[in-house]
Amino acid sequence: MTDLNNVPHIRVTPPGPESIRWHGRAEKHMKGYSSQVGLFPVVFEKGEGNVIIDVDGNTYIDFSSGIYCNSTGHCHPKVVEKIKEYAGKLLNCHDFTTPIKTMFLEKMASFLPGNLSGIQLYCGGSEAVEAALRTVRTVKGGKYEMFSFWGDWHGKTGASMSLSSLGGTVFGPRSAGCHLAPVPDCYRCPFKLSYPGCELTCADVLEGMIDNEGTGAQAAFIMEPVQGYSGAVVYRDEIFTRISEICSARDMLLVVDEVLTGMGRTGKMFCVEHYDLEPDVIVFGKGTAGGFPLSGIAVKEEYSQSLEKMSASTTYGGNPLACAAAYATLEVFEEENLLENVNRVGAYIMERLVKMKETHRIIGDVRGKGLLLAIDLVKDKNTREPFKEAGRMVYKKAFSKGVAWIPAENVLRLAPPLIMTEKLAEKALEIIDESIWEAEKHFSC
Ligand SMILES: Cc1ncc(COP(=O)(O)O)c(C=O)c1O
Repeated sequence: MTDLNNVPHIRVTPPGPESIRWHGRAEKHMKGYSSQVGLFPVVFEKGEGNVIIDVDGNTYIDFSSGIYCNSTGHCHPKVVEKIKEYAGKLLNCHDFTTPIKTMFLEKMASFLPGNLSGIQLYCGGSEAVEAALRTVRTVKGGKYEMFSFWGDWHGKTGASMSLSSLGGTVFGPRSAGCHLAPVPDCYRCPFKLSYPGCELTCADVLEGMIDNEGTGAQAAFIMEPVQGYSGAVVYRDEIFTRISEICSARDMLLVVDEVLTGMGRTGKMFCVEHYDLEPDVIVFGKGTAGGFPLSGIAVKEEYSQSLEKMSASTTYGGNPLACAAAYATLEVFEEENLLENVNRVGAYIMERLVKMKETHRIIGDVRGKGLLLAIDLVKDKNTREPFKEAGRMVYKKAFSKGVAWIPAENVLRLAPPLIMTEKLAEKALEIIDESIWEAEKHFSC
């Protein structure tokens, strides 16, 4: 067991010799690593709670949770125990019912907000988003036009990708009927307006787009309640009310993609619970099974019957091991009061980030909800021009001092496991603070 007083501990400058050796071997075969790995190709071997350990024996404070997945920390003993128990029983039996699937479904249903009830289970987020979009088509019979926001991320499969920001990729064109509207991001308002003087122009434009780009087949609006991939972009509360009104006035469904924001990440079990928002379909994934692949959708009671027309059969969806991991994860949520921890530690980190913003010339914005947080680096606090070079440098510097986190050019993303402690968070923040000072010195800011 790692001594937490001695974390982080960098024995050898990472990526160390063992990381270089393993990554070199893997890289001969594995192509297309993310920028997270590309910028810092360290090789991990073990994880314990809030700590992740590389093959050179360096220990890091985990500020990434895989990629927003390890909600209960690495290898939570209760989750591991449940997986072990079920690994010796049954690994796959298609979509037949199993006792553990039933137990998980019942527990999951008790956590669902509003009157969401019908559930289908899958493995990855994109797959579940596709199921949500199939649900829309099934309910709306023939209508297929969908809308989302610039900067949204819903996945890498056909329709999910067509409703995501594809900046810099070469996959166009989008599928027919998929449209993206300007995002209600007040920090970088697409209309260069300020709140409240803007009178929510973004909502008016969304409405106009739906009416003008739609051809009478408008079926749904899909959104992330807080944009994760784009860097914890939090919207004004009124936006949610307007979106609900826009959808209901047009008889469109509202799909809320909580793959990243769901399962406690923002301080409520589902992020929609912070707002005046009743989704028709919700999508979950990432943290649901503590790091094990399990995703799914839940639909409003009135649409449950529509799911009967849409087979839930997939090769791995809802397999016994994933359900065991997810069941144990939900038990940990209840037994360890994780939501309370997310709110307390999240507030602590945010308070510290706000102070850092006051002292650093290159921090333009700090934002987020619960333990979904981000630091936005800028060349100039007035123009808010993204400082991408600094973002990459700070990411690498802090990582090399023992903070495993998530880069996104100028935006640095902080996503600790939901069991993060103030003490470890403080150590990570000191490292981040120091790394930003070093970058400022380097760029003579
Ligand atoms: C909001 C959201 N939806 C969907 C996805 C796609 O999930 P997956 O990568 O598991 O397919 C992601 C992944 O980052 C996401 O953040």
